[in-house]
Order: sequence, then structure tokens, then C-alpha cells
Amino acid sequence: GTLSVDAGTSLHSLPSTFFGLMTEDINHSMTGGLYPELINNRSMMADASKPVEWSAVGDAAISLDPGNPLNTALTRSLKVDISSTARAGVANGGYWGVPVTPRKTYKVSFFAKASAGFSGPLTVGVESADGAKVYASADVHGVGGDWKRFTATLRTRADAPTTADARFVVSTSGNAGRTLWLDNVSLFPPTYKNVKNGLRPDLMKLFAGLKPAFIREPGGNYLEGNTIGTRFDWKKTIGPVWTRPGHPDDAWGYWSTDGMGLLEYLEWCEQLGAEPMLAVYAGYSLNGSHVAQDQLPPYVQDALDEIEYATGPVTSTWGKKRAQDGHPAPFRIRYVEVGNEDWFDRSGSYNGYRFPMFYDAIKKAYPSMQVIATTGVTSRTPDILDDHYYQSPGWMNTHANLYDGHSRSGPKILVGEWASQEGAPTPDLNAAIGDASWLTGLERNSDLVIQEAYAPMLVNVHDDRWKTNLIGFDALTSYGSPSYYAQRMLANKHGDQVIGATYTGVGGINVVATKDSRSGRIYLTVVNPSSASQPVAVDLGGVGHIGPKGTATVLSSAHPTDTNTISQPANVVPKTTTVTGLGSTFTHTVPAYSVTVLTLN
Ligand code: AHR
Repeated sequence: GTLSVDAGTSLHSLPSTFFGLMTEDINHSMTGGLYPELINNRSMMADASKPVEWSAVGDAAISLDPGNPLNTALTRSLKVDISSTARAGVANGGYWGVPVTPRKTYKVSFFAKASAGFSGPLTVGVESADGAKVYASADVHGVGGDWKRFTATLRTRADAPTTADARFVVSTSGNAGRTLWLDNVSLFPPTYKNVKNGLRPDLMKLFAGLKPAFIREPGGNYLEGNTIGTRFDWKKTIGPVWTRPGHPDDAWGYWSTDGMGLLEYLEWCEQLGAEPMLAVYAGYSLNGSHVAQDQLPPYVQDALDEIEYATGPVTSTWGKKRAQDGHPAPFRIRYVEVGNEDWFDRSGSYNGYRFPMFYDAIKKAYPSMQVIATTGVTSRTPDILDDHYYQSPGWMNTHANLYDGHSRSGPKILVGEWASQEGAPTPDLNAAIGDASWLTGLERNSDLVIQEAYAPMLVNVHDDRWKTNLIGFDALTSYGSPSYYAQRMLANKHGDQVIGATYTGVGGINVVATKDSRSGRIYLTVVNPSSASQPVAVDLGGVGHIGPKGTATVLSSAHPTDTNTISQPANVVPKTTTVTGLGSTFTHTVPAYSVTVLTLN
């Protein structure tokens, strides 16, 4: 085939806001994932009838005690009735294990109190799941009749194994007949950039590799909840973690501690140099219920307060609260999305009154805020419309031109969720190729499609409830899927100007070309979904000088179903080689089933 590139003329610039991430608490992405708390059900709120995820150690009986709550948010504590003088206490197995590696440090914190006569220290430790081996332990002293917060640091030895087959134990000896109460029991590993209540470093490094300009958060279905009562109610997700009740993530079937609360979502962006794209709850939940028009004003006010919490000065009511929560500096937010996938609301309330009420209030308070609608509306003109696509790789390959003929006179487009769905829990090479094809189309149309984000981002491989997810992890490790690497290539190797590029020939090849206006470097992305390698005759019309040497970064493998897994994380990863013989015309052969970015100097 031939690839004609109009290297002399820029069609339009590639917005600096283009590449983003979309996130929510799905597949234990946040709880038991990016938010690295290792104790499962730390605040005893996950189940009202029993202390799920906790088990007794030695001669102890454990139960939930609503009669001894820690505070008004955590309305029940863990009661441990000890019946022998031998070692007794409680254990927690974490989210599919507690990670242990040599010389690993953990920060322990918890609230405790005990009945009269309780004596001696509490021992906190990380040990093998069967209790046979202790990997790290420490004693805390001073447990008495009133709630008190305790902290300790644990460190494993140099000869500790690498395993997740471990548990966390709080125990005591010599306290037969006494009772111990515990709450908000936390075991925290080191965090990315050592931020307090921060995030999991390996996942953050994978995200950083994608250079996201924005993060669409906090959902998704997670934002909406199944019911109005189980929405992401942001005001309950801020402040000290022991004042956050948590809520059922009933969109995805587990308990969210809200340790990853609004501030942590915002700080996540900050740590990656990305801008939050804040999705506010808009009065519609997944079971189809929507807030009636006369009941909606407090929800609109909640959204305004939320924007103020994120962006307001410390002199504002909610900006002051943010400062008290440890972040005086306001975040910069230019995009607010009203709801999620409101096309599901068949009642017409989104167009009828919900979008208009949020839109008018946000625009009044923040005139330059770009307001995103989740479905077509006629009652107001949104700045941006959010389109979602979950399709097969084949569909993605053949629909890369979807936006080519789209009207340019309406709102701009955010493709706020999209994925080629093949492979589980993470996409295979074929899906990566579909994804790369799709991205070439979005990039070519980035005068209209100003932002894009693949979804979902994360899957704990033990909880793969959604078919394809970009990055997989377990308690110990994580990996990028082939699609992760394809997106990483495109997000890292591009110029700031989109230039014309047309492929003619066989193979169903999709292309996009960009040019860096400062260096003059040209990037050609060539996606070959076919089973044959394809020689591509490149003609760089109108270009100045092209050096004879460049690079080719190629993602490919023998079979389209080849993939990466937690145990084989680097089966399909890109390789960069030097290419020579380049000029204003040259021929380059792209392999079968491949994504190639040619960098021309
Ligand atoms: O990405 C998974 C889900 O797909 C999102 O929560 C929802 O917005 C969409 O239906």
C-alpha cells in the first residue's frame, strides 16, 4: 500500500487535553487496588450482621458491637471476647492476601479500648496465613477503657519471602475473660511519592507511563450507584478516614471504604500532572430512579459545593474545608460532567430539567467551566458531549473513520469511555490493535474529539467482573495489557499538529500522522490488523528535510490472541529499533498484527 502524508500542512493541532484516563471503583480498582489499604473491611461497616473478612485467632469470639461505636460515622466496632490466657485476637486476610516482600514497611494504625482488668501490650503483626511464620511484628501499649488511636511501624526482614499468602493479626496474651474493641484498623504499605493516605506505587508508575492530561472521575456507574442512596455522596468521603462511613458500591457488588474519597481522587490527578474532569452526581441512579424536579436543588447545591471544595480559595466555605483536610492549594478544574450515561433515563428528565438545572447553576457560578452532557440534549447547548463505545476489535478497526464526516458545528466530543473487548480480564493483542486503530481515528478528528479515555482502567485479577480492563493487578504485582502498551506508544509518540495522511491499499490499515512544530519531527502511526506483513510506500509530500535515520516502535506478536498476564506480564510489549534509508519517500514493512509508530527526524 501507499501512505501519502501531507507533511507540509497542519490540519489542526492535537489538543494538549487529548489523552486521558477514566476511572471508578470497579473490579476492586480503588478499594483493594489503587487505594492501597491492606485491611479488608477496616471500619467494620461492610456488613451489618457480622464482621466479614475478620476471623478469630486462638480462644476468642468475635462479633460486631453497635453498642460501642467509635463515632457517629462508624456505628459499630469489632468486639473480641477472649476466653483463655494464651495468645488470642483477630486476623484479616486483606484483599486476596496481604503482600509480603523482603524489607517491606507497613504503617499500622487502629482505635482500641478494653474492658476493666485488660493488661499488657497488643501485638500487631504480619504473618503467614496459617500463622506458622511471623514476618513482622510490634507491640503497642496503653490500651484502656476509652477509645484511643494507636500507631506502629512494621518491617519485614531481608529473608522474608515474596508472597501474598499472609494475614494481619492483632493479638494479646494473659487476658482471659476480658474484652477488646477495635475499629478503623489499618495496615498501609508505602505509597507513591510517600503521600499520606496515598496511592499504590506500581499502578501509579503504569499510569504515569500514559502521560494522562486528565482523569474522568469518579465514574461511571460508581458515581450513580444502583440507588440514589448509594451514589458517590462526596461529602461523606472527606475528612479523617475514621469519620468516613463508606458505602455499598452496589453498581459493582462490593463495599467501598471511601478511603479513596474526593480529595484522594483529586490528589491522584495532581500526582500525575493530570487535570481532574469532575463527574458530579446528577440525580439519576442505575435502578432507574431519578430525583424529582422539586427535590433536585439540594443535589445541584451539592455539585456546586463539590466544585468549590476542589477549586475554591481557602476563604470559601468548602475551600476552607479542603485546606483543613490537608490541601490548601485549589485544584484547577475546567471540565465538569453532569451525570453518567443518562441515555438510560427513559423518563426524559435529563433533557427536561436535570441537565438544565445543573448547567445553569454551574455556568452561573463558574462561567468559564466547560459543562459536559452525557447524552444529546436540546434544552441547553452543552460545551461537550460524552460518547461511549464498547465494541469488538473488528468493529474498532473498521470504524476508525467514524468521526470523519461528523458535523463540526455542534458541541465538541469527549469519547469518555471506549474499549475493544477481546480477552479477559485484560485485552489481547487483537484488542490492542482495534484500540490503536480507534485512537488513530480520534486523533485525526481531534479538532472535534478533544478528549478521550479508555475504560475501565484497572482490574484486580481476582475480581474480573468486567470483560476487558487496561491494567491488571493482584496483591503483589501488576501488568499492562497489550492495549496499555499500544496506548502508551500513541500517548508518548506524537507531535502537536495533526497532518494529512492517507493510506491506499490492502490490509485494512489505519493511520494517523502528527508533526512536532518545535522540532519538526514527524510521527507516523500505522496499525495493521491483517495476518500478513505489509510493505508501505511512504510519500512525505511537501516536507523539508528528513534525516536518513529514525526509529520504529512496534507492538506485535505471532498470534492475535497473544496477551500479557499477571504471571507473564511482558509477553507482548513494544520494541524500538533504529530504521535507516529514510527520506521524503521510502518503503517500510509493518509486521502482521501490529501497531507501529515511526519517528522521523
Ligand atoms: O466502564 C464500565 C461501565 O460502562 C461504566 O461504569 C459505565 O459508565 C459504562 O456503562
